[in-house]
Amino acid sequence: MIPKDTIQSILDAARIDEVVGDFVQLKRRGVNLLGLCPFHNEKTPSFTVSPAKGIFKCFGCGKAGNAVNFVMEHEKYSYPEALRYLANKYGIEIEEQEPSPEEKQLESDRDSLFSINDFARKFYTNTLFNSDEGKAIGLSYFLERGFREDIIRKFQLGFSPTAWDSFTKTALQNGYSEKYLVDSGLTISKDGKFYDRFRERVMFPIHNLTGKVIGFGGRILTSDKTKPKYVNSPESEIYNKSKSLYGIWLARSSIVARDNCYLVEGYTDVISLHQSGIENVVASSGTSLTTDQIRLIRKFTPNITILYDGDPAGIKASFRGIDMILEQGMNVKVVLFPDGEDPDSYARKHSSSDLDAFIATHADDFIAFKTRLLLDETKNDPIKKAGLIHEIIQTISLIPDPIIRPLYVRECSEIMQIAEQTLMNELNRLLRKKKLKGIDAEVQEQLPETPPVALPQEPAIDLTDCSAQEFDIVRLLLCYGNQEMVIEQPEPEEPAAPAEPLRIKVAGYICNDLRENQIAFDSPLYQRIFDEFAKGVDEDSLPDERFFTMNEDQELAALSIDVLSPKYELSPGWEEIRIYVPAETDKLEETVSRAILSLINRKLTVMILENHKAMKELPKESEAWTDLLSRDIFLKQTRNEISRRLGRILNG
Ligand code: CTP
Ligand code: MN
Repeated sequence: MIPKDTIQSILDAARIDEVVGDFVQLKRRGVNLLGLCPFHNEKTPSFTVSPAKGIFKCFGCGKAGNAVNFVMEHEKYSYPEALRYLANKYGIEIEEQEPSPEEKQLESDRDSLFSINDFARKFYTNTLFNSDEGKAIGLSYFLERGFREDIIRKFQLGFSPTAWDSFTKTALQNGYSEKYLVDSGLTISKDGKFYDRFRERVMFPIHNLTGKVIGFGGRILTSDKTKPKYVNSPESEIYNKSKSLYGIWLARSSIVARDNCYLVEGYTDVISLHQSGIENVVASSGTSLTTDQIRLIRKFTPNITILYDGDPAGIKASFRGIDMILEQGMNVKVVLFPDGEDPDSYARKHSSSDLDAFIATHADDFIAFKTRLLLDETKNDPIKKAGLIHEIIQTISLIPDPIIRPLYVRECSEIMQIAEQTLMNELNRLLRKKKLKGIDAEVQEQLPETPPVALPQEPAIDLTDCSAQEFDIVRLLLCYGNQEMVIEQPEPEEPAAPAEPLRIKVAGYICNDLRENQIAFDSPLYQRIFDEFAKGVDEDSLPDERFFTMNEDQELAALSIDVLSPKYELSPGWEEIRIYVPAETDKLEETVSRAILSLINRKLTVMILENHKAMKELPKESEAWTDLLSRDIFLKQTRNEISRRLGRILNG
């Protein structure tokens, strides 16, 4: 838990231009900065950063937010993660609030496991680079494989010594406890003795999303067939095989930037692709893909490209896993490498641009790929072909998007030379069956609902709802609160003494006027914003835009960002946006007066209605009733006066 005041100091310290500048190249453009949007592909910059407002806004894709939102969106962090990131960037120390004893125990268990894994990683790396056997066996293996030293260091590869308990002994000497050595799986305890799980293997640390080591894979270097090629860490409090993906910590930003994730089979494929400059790649590490892993990828992109080596048995075995990806609503492409090649070997033999080109030209849509592959096998055997139709339609039926399904039906009908309608019928039959049987709750949920038969209805105007008028006031405060407006004084009687036009800040005018009229806001959020301005008016120091866009209250921040980032797309460059509202800014006084009068008008209506209601409860002609009647007359007179003034403004 981050304490509240720390959150505010982080928000105060974070400068949007500096935070964004770490990821996007920004050029000054007037009072703003301009760059290429990191959230969508573009060639001409439309991503605008306003240091004064503390916000960014892309006029291409419409994304907008403050520094925290940027980090959350760009790094796919949660709110607390983003705050921690910013705290770290600005050297702000977070003194965590006391967690509960159970939380503490769990936290300290996890911390101890992270800590021992980190120690192990350093131990194995050190052994690789600095011990005789590490250099002679491990390092020479990597170098012979063609791994460059910078890549070996980037992936923090290592070597585990041949001796039975080198690592365990060193860890114990360094104060690590037996419990966590065993829990992490690094040490195996047997008959009261401890020995190392990993011996005489090259070591591949496995990291979580934030780059902490959660486990290891160790590859054998001898051709001893009695031993497994890889030994992997067992699951632990911090290592959940089915939820992690090898290489994700190094791939995440590239996956977002390229809006695609390459999926390969093993550690060495990931590493070789990185060495070729392709970084949006992860491995499921030999096991079949799980739903959790797919969801992890989907945080960063809806597009997956699976890179296969040319082994048909392996490919067919993977089909079930791919069906799962489709079920998650992701787009799946596949690339088949030539016989005998895998991404690793191909990357070693070709330049990175060749590899990129190969992937680009060979990426095939998964369903079309599967159709072709299975079609090849049917060899015009009609019975087999019928089975194929069923299988393909089954796969298509998993796609949640009802608009995409027919597109695949069309494509497959062409590949298989079967009438589109036949396939469509089969698809509908299958979807109906699933719906009836409720086999697959998820798919069922995604079936298009029969639209409810309802006539379009004009929303009735609720005369007691002041939110639109309240919002308009808040909007003017946020957008123009600090601006001065000029109020022309009425023509003087004597031309000799012309009255000076009155200059007053918008916030001063609004706050004083509404307070004089004792107007309160129905919305607590709007009231808070108003109160901040009112306080600023009294203390003669108005809050700036950043105060609101970077407010600790996320609801308040979100509203301010929304109000302060212009809605409409125009040529990039923020200030030009104001062209859109010339009437509003040119005649600020009018705009402000109109907004105030509209709000008061609506509030008066509410009061009149409430007054009527109260009158109905009272006996007619009673004293209290008569009081309310005169109140009614007064309120109506006031409202008429307000309406008159409003009408004067509206009709120029
Ligand atoms: N794997 C495993 N245990 C095994 C074999 C494989 O965990 N006994 C996992 C590893 O994550 C491995 C992946 O499956 O990276 C792919 O296996 P393979 O292609 O055999 O290994 P590579 O890492 O590609 O090794 P190499 O290229 O050196 O053969
Ligand atoms: Mn391999």
